[in-house]
Amino acid sequence: IDVGTGMTPLVKAERLGRRLGLKNLYLKNDAVNMPTLSFKDRVVSVALTRARELGFTTVSCASTGNLANSTAAIAAHAGLDCVIFIPADLEAGKVLGSLIYNPIVMAVEGNYDQVNRLCAEVADRYGWGFVNINLRPYYAEGSKTLAYEVVEQLGWQLPDQVVIPLASGSLYTKIYKGFQEFVKVGLVAEKPVTFHGAQAQGCAPIAQAFREGRDFVTPVKPNTIAKSIAIGNPADGIYALEIARKTGGQIATATDPEIIAGIKLLAETEGIFTETAGGTTIAVLKHLAEAGHLDPEAVTVAYITGNGLKTQEAVQAQVGHPLLISPKLESFEQALERARTLERLDWQEASV
Ligand SMILES: Cc1ncc(COP(=O)(O)O)c(C=O)c1O
Repeated sequence: IDVGTGMTPLVKAERLGRRLGLKNLYLKNDAVNMPTLSFKDRVVSVALTRARELGFTTVSCASTGNLANSTAAIAAHAGLDCVIFIPADLEAGKVLGSLIYNPIVMAVEGNYDQVNRLCAEVADRYGWGFVNINLRPYYAEGSKTLAYEVVEQLGWQLPDQVVIPLASGSLYTKIYKGFQEFVKVGLVAEKPVTFHGAQAQGCAPIAQAFREGRDFVTPVKPNTIAKSIAIGNPADGIYALEIARKTGGQIATATDPEIIAGIKLLAETEGIFTETAGGTTIAVLKHLAEAGHLDPEAVTVAYITGNGLKTQEAVQAQVGHPLLISPKLESFEQALERARTLERLDWQEASV
């Protein structure tokens, strides 16, 4: 099922790179993936293609928001019936971004892990194709395209270090698998790639296990603005831990204010408006650079996995307001003077 998913831009991030002291920083920009502006379009495209082959007529998912949007949109395109399950407290943009495709939407009073448990029971009883439960192997393989494309866009070479957000850990582990496969079939020369991971501090079960040297993940109750990556009981957590350790990477965290600052930093330096998951990635990228965990000369790829227009609530109070003027030159000039003074004050505060 092809709705134009994939081959999103790999952007050389000169300005952000200078701010962070990284000379070869690239951003894989899935904030503009099609059709629903997140990397989830990749995994759903594969899962629903297989669902159709297997004869499913109703497809479904347990979602933190982006997966719901992708499943609803791509099911609509394929003419499949669709029922999606989300936590009831998701951002308005994520809810509307599913409803518009007219699936049945179940808003569950509970967190993602409770939604997921309910869906396992529904999948058993109804025999529907759940993209991330009974179709999960196909769904997961879809993330490998984020590895394949980066290799191709770098001129058929592997990056040296990557930074990837983790919820269930599937994306992170499958990008690793994608690089390995290209080496195995001889499309790219082998070299070590360091895998760094990013979690929100308010939901960081994998980062916690990493920090404590554990090889098992203890589930947590999520409490963060980064709702798309708020999975307290991550299915692929142990595999992610293994990859971080074997490649010499870190799995680090960002607080909610740091996530907001990360969203703004990326927007102001590169013109990319990402959602909270991307804010987490940028905040962790900054931490890792400051702590000396990143080689400043090396080819670094940060994966931007979702679009900021879907999580406007997160930054609404942090971006100021437009200057309201009357349609007169004088009004414009007064406002311009005010804006410039404000800008100078901001600048002065920042440089103190
Ligand atoms: C925007 C975004 N980035 C990253 C992730 C993490 O994906 P995974 O569950 O494969 O770790 C998600 C998951 O929902 C997401 O929505």
